[in-house]
Amino acid sequence: MSADSLFQSVEKDFLLTREQLKPIVDGFNSECKIGLKTPSKGLATMIPSFVTKMPQGNETGTFLSLDLGGTNLRIAAVELKGNGKTAVHELKRRPTVELKTGEGSVFFDWIADATHELITSEAKHLFTEDQVSGKETLALGVCWSFPVDQTAVDRGTILRMGKGFTLKNVEGHDLADMFHEAFARKNLNVKVTAILNDTVGTLVAHAYTNPACRIGLIFATGINAAYPEKLPLITKLDESIRSKYPENTEMLINTEIDIFGSEAYLPLTKYDLALDASHNQPKFQLYEKMLSGAYMGELVRLIAMDFIKAGALFEGHVPEGFGKPWSFPTMYMSTLESDETPDRKESREALSAFNFVNAPTLNDIAILTRICRIVAARSASLAAVSIISLVEQQKLLENDRDDIVVGINGSTYHFYPYMDRRVRRALDEWYGKEISSKITLENATEGGSVGGALIAMLCK
Ligand code: BGC
Repeated sequence: MSADSLFQSVEKDFLLTREQLKPIVDGFNSECKIGLKTPSKGLATMIPSFVTKMPQGNETGTFLSLDLGGTNLRIAAVELKGNGKTAVHELKRRPTVELKTGEGSVFFDWIADATHELITSEAKHLFTEDQVSGKETLALGVCWSFPVDQTAVDRGTILRMGKGFTLKNVEGHDLADMFHEAFARKNLNVKVTAILNDTVGTLVAHAYTNPACRIGLIFATGINAAYPEKLPLITKLDESIRSKYPENTEMLINTEIDIFGSEAYLPLTKYDLALDASHNQPKFQLYEKMLSGAYMGELVRLIAMDFIKAGALFEGHVPEGFGKPWSFPTMYMSTLESDETPDRKESREALSAFNFVNAPTLNDIAILTRICRIVAARSASLAAVSIISLVEQQKLLENDRDDIVVGINGSTYHFYPYMDRRVRRALDEWYGKEISSKITLENATEGGSVGGALIAMLCK
């Protein structure tokens, strides 16, 4: 088959027009409503964060925070300087595969060691002598980028983790307990005062710089979003809890939108199904697997394999290494899409990770780049669905607001070429330019660390 006819069919499958996005938006809207009333058991969505206060931007002080994502652990001492300004002193560690897939207590001990290192060396000057020696308890805000069934602002049951984490003996345990046990084993006087999802952290951190922020979106290895919901609508929370707050209170909700969607209405292509089948957690996070940074490269690889098999790419030879699932990271897509060097030098360098029978031709590289564009454009449209459904859930366009601020953090959004413009375009196509212009997409790069510190402060 020729490359042209293959592209025709792949483009047809991956292009999401307004009509094709509609069932997803509708499905997400109804999942929001169902999630708000269904008590969280097991794999939950629409998780109440118990955070009901937003920062004003003038708060000050130094707070400890910990941010665990799919790739990095960041432990930080965050100085809130007022005027929306912060200084972050952080220690970054990357867990090995052994740590991510081993015994839970070993993993938490590893975190406790890093925390000790931050307090006693890197950020020692920011704490009092009593805090460093452990005489005085230090408050810690934990930003956990995985599903947690939150039971209080500082407590939450660990659910299935995803992102390559399959820790033993953690699911079903309280996250704060796991930390406190490790801190006790390592003689650290640190208390978890807040547990938050990274999206809640992003929303709060961005609200510190722009209080108009109504959605915190992460578009990185995974995808997810948080927003403030009116308390009376969160009927999954027991009346005894709801009645503790004034009626007009809003509570931040971690939507876990990554888990939304089902085979019934997500336009899954044969490549999405193949990716899911080869994943160590099949049928989990189907929406996320269609669009986020952890998966885009593999989707490109699977499509490219069809082109190779049809003789339309690399002269029909599978380069050595390329046949292996997950061998084509999303980073290579970034390189291919941004490469403007003569003879596509940078792309060739990225592709040198594989062994070719004959060096790829310029046409091969152009084909592969076009596949990247197709996959990335769909990612942007699908990410826009998260924004659209939370704008609708909050009815933000109904009262003629023209300052709908979305704070966005995440490597895929910030570093993938043109991703921000593509998400914008998807919103323009959905709403039309005039209405879409009421939605401002702002970079919220101070995610987990600052958010963790702010919530530790707000909930102290
Ligand atoms: C996790 C979420 C997280 C999101 C963004 C998803 O895979 O389940 O809890 O917020 O990634 O990091």
